[in-house]
Amino acid sequence: MSVFLTDKYGKKAVRICSRSITAIAERLLRFLDKADHDLSILFIDDAEMIRLNSRYRNQNTPTNVLSFPFSEGADTTLFSLPVKELGDIIISVDTAAREAKESDQSLHARITWLLVHGLLHLLGYDHEHSEAEAAIMSNKENELILRLQKDRSTTMTHLAINVDHIATIRQARGITEPDPVTAAAICELAGAEGIVVHLREDRRHIQDRDVRLLRQTIKTKLNLEMGAAREIIDIALDIKPDMVTLVPEKRQELTTEGGLNVTGQKKKLAQTIEQMSKADIPVSLFIDPEPKQIKASREIGATFVEIHTGRYCDSKSEKDCDREFDLIAAAAEQAFEMGLRVNAGHGLDYRTTSRIAALATIEELSIGHAIIARAVIVGLEKAVREMFNIVRTAGHGI
Ligand code: PXP
Repeated sequence: MSVFLTDKYGKKAVRICSRSITAIAERLLRFLDKADHDLSILFIDDAEMIRLNSRYRNQNTPTNVLSFPFSEGADTTLFSLPVKELGDIIISVDTAAREAKESDQSLHARITWLLVHGLLHLLGYDHEHSEAEAAIMSNKENELILRLQKDRSTTMTHLAINVDHIATIRQARGITEPDPVTAAAICELAGAEGIVVHLREDRRHIQDRDVRLLRQTIKTKLNLEMGAAREIIDIALDIKPDMVTLVPEKRQELTTEGGLNVTGQKKKLAQTIEQMSKADIPVSLFIDPEPKQIKASREIGATFVEIHTGRYCDSKSEKDCDREFDLIAAAAEQAFEMGLRVNAGHGLDYRTTSRIAALATIEELSIGHAIIARAVIVGLEKAVREMFNIVRTAGHGI
């Protein structure tokens, strides 16, 4: 099976993630037992759609999707070729974006629906034929969308919880409670899909003992956040977390302030990535949502990037918030398209998380302070469950 996606849309203001749409189209072909067929998808703008719609359907207006089955009007000698073609689905991104806004959906969810609709047309479903056929087509659309949603276990956004601040409270007294290891177990029972700890050089919260015990006890995934310092690298190579996230670390800062300057220290970071890679430990680089940092992360062999969401979370006005969100969405897409896996985090809370979790390109969110702060008031299990629900129900639709 091959899905050929061509993006001729080209307007920068609206972004579509080609890789994610291609993956959805491949899943749909499998659901429909057409995995041995090829499919072409083309994204265009309204001006181009008007041209096509007036030429093929005598309508001088844009439409959301046009389907051209391969069998329709094709030279019959082509049928004997050893390729199975379904045909072309052409989507106007301008119209899809308008419809997404009107129906309060993400563009990704709207395009997914149009893809399902166009694909069913290619297979002979036709809602314009009769009411009965319209009902059959609509049922099939719903069935496929539901199946995509259920089948999303590998693509849905995961919640990883940073338990550093449980250790911060413990260290305030220098005793043994509260224990971040116990907290991590409760987080997992309440739905966390990963545990993150930052072993700082000054050991202000997490201690070596915590990381060693967590390695033995947690059932999900241990993500060790760390600066690229020799001593900490050796500990990571010894403990072997499931992944490490490299962050810039300054002794005076209250928390990690900005993303890594990957472009400025490619050699040093590449060496650390290579060492980790020899020990089978994937590396994530915590970076600001900047194209040059993403490109450099890819060049030096990172497996993941974690996009810094701090400026988006700290925005004081709606306009700033939207601008920062757009930067994150664009960065996540750029990284995803380059083949990097994408996480995000820092400063996310019960108000700001949903929008980020709705981005189809983001695999995992790393959230600490907001959950632990709420846990002090409502209990850890409840605080985790509430955040888990936000992440799971965030509208990436598909
Ligand atoms: N991601 C990274 C790289 C971090 O340094 C932190 C803070 O420890 C977080 C995510 C979590 O941030 P917060 O505690 O604000 O949720």
